[in-house]
Amino acid sequence: MSRKNVAVIFGGRSGEHEVSLVSGQSVMRALHPERYTVVPVGIGKDGRWWTGEDAMSFLRSSEGAPRRCLLPPEPGRNILLVDDGGRWTEQPIDVVFPVIHGSNGEDGTLQGVFELAELPFVGAGVTASAVAMDKVLQKRLHREAGIPIVPFLHYTSHDIALRAEEIAREIIEKLGLPLFIKPPNLGSSVGITRVTDADALADALRHAARFDRKVLAEVAVPEAREIEVAVLGNEDPVASVPGEVVPSNEFYDYDAKYVDGASQLLIPAELPEGMDERIRRMAVEAYRSLDCEGMARVDFLISRASGELYINEINTIPGFTSISMYPKLFDAVGIPYADLLDRLIEFALRRHAEKQALTRSYTPKEDWYRHE
Ligand SMILES: Nc1ncnc2c1ncn2[C@@H]1O[C@H](COP(=O)(O)OP(=O)(O)O)[C@@H](O)[C@H]1O
Ligand SMILES: [Mg+2]
Repeated sequence: MSRKNVAVIFGGRSGEHEVSLVSGQSVMRALHPERYTVVPVGIGKDGRWWTGEDAMSFLRSSEGAPRRCLLPPEPGRNILLVDDGGRWTEQPIDVVFPVIHGSNGEDGTLQGVFELAELPFVGAGVTASAVAMDKVLQKRLHREAGIPIVPFLHYTSHDIALRAEEIAREIIEKLGLPLFIKPPNLGSSVGITRVTDADALADALRHAARFDRKVLAEVAVPEAREIEVAVLGNEDPVASVPGEVVPSNEFYDYDAKYVDGASQLLIPAELPEGMDERIRRMAVEAYRSLDCEGMARVDFLISRASGELYINEINTIPGFTSISMYPKLFDAVGIPYADLLDRLIEFALRRHAEKQALTRSYTPKEDWYRHE
């Protein structure tokens, strides 16, 4: 087998830009060098694309001299166009490994570019990415699949601007307290508030509305334990063992996730008899309910008070540093980081080959459109 050119794409325009740099660096370091040639592709916060050895250092600290690049959306070319002193040269690409979290990376938009270019890519396709990005839409599909979700309400940010106080009263009446208020299309806990006091609700709604065109209000799971499962595969996905996050803060906010380094990951999670199997089965059902492919991390909340289990959310491009939950969960079941990357690339290539084999065109019997 010849070495494949893998474009690892990192950075991006979301609030998770920095996290993505760390994930992207880990992936590039770990890819088996005898199987792959890494083509680093960094997307700046301004949305510009860079490649070359210096792409990472440039995004991290504005150092080095990377080259501008573009991915043309024309099908079948399998290239990046690279600016070579004012002339565009072609860098061949066999498969893309996007490691961009959040909007414009994990939400189907970037995946749409790969689809147009007919390039194989790692992870969920356009639809699953978009639906998983939207916490309201994904809850609806989980509900339809019979997977337990917490009671929730959602509003447009436009409504919040017009009548936040009235909406706050309605939410308290229907859901009670405490609550979580979220912008449904974000990640890394940005814009999320835990509300315990009715007087603070309208402000929490307005805060979430600054980040998104929708606002989600959901019942807080009492004394929640956070359990996460890694899922891998296309039509026959497998689940890892469940792991537990013990956040260093009141909830798993941005600082607890990345900054203070004090949150703990317990692998495997210690769970009551039978719960382990139930969660793994539910993780695969949730993955299927959204049509996920390649990979996803499925997050659950268990109430310490009642023992009740709920799905919280699916992330289609989970944190991918070597100490992140997703790779560590598979490491725990005997799939080391570099082998996990091999499998993800394999799933990407297989899906691509299957899609290429589909019938894509239809030729009408008559030239009816010429006469219109
Ligand atoms: N309904 C809930 N009950 C208890 N804790 C919650 C609830 N929703 C969110 N949280 C807490 O907030 C964190 C971030 O919420 P989440 O919906 O996972 O957003 P993000 O996509 O930003 O990770 C969770 O990891 C958890 O600590
Ligand atoms: Mg989360």
